[in-house]
Amino acid sequence: MTTVPVTLGARSYDIVIAEGALDEAAAHLARFARGGRLVVVTDDDVAAAQLGRLESGLAADGVSIEPIVLPSGEGTKSWTFLEALLDRLLALEVERSDHIVALGGGVIGDLVGFAASILKRGCHFVQVPTTLLAQVDSSVGGKTAINSAAGKNLVGAFHQPAFVLIDPSTLETLPAREVAAGYAEVVKYGLIDDPAFFEWCETNGPALIAGDRTARAYAIEKSVRAKAAIVADDERETSGRRALLNLGHTFGHALEADTGFSDTLLHGEGVAAGMALAFRFSARQGLCTAEDAARVSAHLQAVGLPHDLATAHVRGSASELVAHMLHDKKMAGGKLPFLLARGIGQTFLAKDVDLADVSAFLEEERAEY
Ligand code: NAD
Ligand code: GLY
Repeated sequence: MTTVPVTLGARSYDIVIAEGALDEAAAHLARFARGGRLVVVTDDDVAAAQLGRLESGLAADGVSIEPIVLPSGEGTKSWTFLEALLDRLLALEVERSDHIVALGGGVIGDLVGFAASILKRGCHFVQVPTTLLAQVDSSVGGKTAINSAAGKNLVGAFHQPAFVLIDPSTLETLPAREVAAGYAEVVKYGLIDDPAFFEWCETNGPALIAGDRTARAYAIEKSVRAKAAIVADDERETSGRRALLNLGHTFGHALEADTGFSDTLLHGEGVAAGMALAFRFSARQGLCTAEDAARVSAHLQAVGLPHDLATAHVRGSASELVAHMLHDKKMAGGKLPFLLARGIGQTFLAKDVDLADVSAFLEEERAEY
């Protein structure tokens, strides 16, 4: 068992990583129950695959759960399901001092976190992430949100969880494509500021995706340590350090928008292709070498992730992709900050990128297929 602290003063909390933790959930979560009861929010697929383990693990200590099971999928991060969830939590008479458990991927974590941030002006929540993406990224750091008609994650709050419990064995029921998509966020930490970790990914990524438990445990710990340090330094993305976590997201967001935020391109897959594009654009701008950009693409390709517009199944033109970027919530004063790189492990926030250069670059990329 490994414990990684997130140091945020009064909002500090621990991330516990323990193989098989769900089967021993009482040891980790019983303290959050009130009157022997814990409210657990999850989705259909996770309920079928993992809820029973959590239920038995808590029953060992006489804790019962009140499950709230929502539909699986990005559509659940919506006003409709936020309202339904809040009504259900109110009907269950959840109190401000209670802890709501989010058992699932980034969709459940983001929705439950946001619901907890506004229920009775704020109550507690605990993250029990069950996708690789949620275990290495979204369960840590307190960004919560739903989507709205105007775009993704545009309505939300910073609200830190009280505790994060990561059981890597939950990944055994996760579809392989979802594992690979989450792995893109692992690679991201190497590309941001840890070239040795990117090298580790090049060597161990294929085994990790195939199910190697040692590789998964190492990557999860390494990733949450990196994220915890960044969040402790810049909780609300004001100094620019936390913004580094958005590497690949501006291009990726445009690709996701083009493909309709659908199963055609999962979020992590969009991030993968977005990171490859960010490196190739950096090379085109003379910021990093073409060799570094090629190395990033080669690794993503080696693990079966999208790494260009063709493999991301993009249909729109360069100008349509740039138009999607203009709706990004990071737009400030008519400028869109981009995460670019001077090399592997040397990502930086560029605030003066000319969108005409981005458009010309995407035209070139588009012409290649
Ligand atoms: P997800 O939550 O939709 O999970 C993917 C699919 O896997 C779902 O169908 C789910 O039911 C299923 N699933 C989850 N765990 C399973 C398991 N152990 N076994 C079997 N099936 C399982 O998707 P995700 O990739 O985890 O999260 C994506 C979301 O996360 C996006 O909405 C994105 O915006 C958000 N996100 C948030 C942050 C943040 O900092 N808050 C960071 C990155 C991404
Ligand atoms: N996933 C980006 C962030 O947490 O800041």
